[in-house]
Amino acid sequence: MIRLAPSILSADFAHLEDQCREALEAGADWLHVDVMDGHFVPNITIGPLIVRALKPLREEMDTLLDVHLMIEEPERFIDSFVEAGADIVTVHVETCPHLNRTLQQIRDAGAAAGVTLNPSTPLSVLEEVLNDVDLVLVMSVNPGFGGQSYIPSSTDKIRRLRDMLDRAGSGAYLEVDGGVGPANIREVVAAGADVIVAGSAVFGGASVGDGVRALREALHVEA
Ligand code: DX5
Ligand code: ZN
Repeated sequence: MIRLAPSILSADFAHLEDQCREALEAGADWLHVDVMDGHFVPNITIGPLIVRALKPLREEMDTLLDVHLMIEEPERFIDSFVEAGADIVTVHVETCPHLNRTLQQIRDAGAAAGVTLNPSTPLSVLEEVLNDVDLVLVMSVNPGFGGQSYIPSSTDKIRRLRDMLDRAGSGAYLEVDGGVGPANIREVVAAGADVIVAGSAVFGGASVGDGVRALREALHVEA
């Protein structure tokens, strides 16, 4: 089963709950929450308050809050995000000198532990933590903004990661994030992704529901 995780970064924040509800009712599975601190990435977005604000919807719609931390020193904020309602907390290897300890902190706090890497970071950084993660997120754009173009070399990286996870017997989700839409979702899934983040493809058009449905339909179109 391929899961869709719309990134709320591209949503209309003046109508956030309505847009998230529309995406979930149209068949989205998780809500991807992009947290940025203006240091690790050149943008500032949202914090635990938004996770807390989405928690009632999360309970009502039986979804998961998939929190992507693009921040320095994430260990300082993991407990706050989990306490606010995060189900999955994903940290960047580039911000975690003590990655094993940080992943354990996420699990000890009661959330699923995710790890992610920038497009230029090699998969080898994951070798020692494959059994300590519940999710690996491949960045297919340079983190910081929605609406960017998919980096084509990501597909081969996804394929190699899928092989790495399978060889390690890891049951971790393989999530892909950045520049995915109806035109390339099949390629990304065929390479081995099982969770797709999509921001502008879902929230960037006239209808959020149509955005979700277009992704689903693109997945089922016969080649
Ligand atoms: C980028 C974020 C992505 C982004 C996805 O730093 O991590 O989740 O919001 O947006 P699109 O799908 O528009 O690339
Ligand atoms: Zn993200």
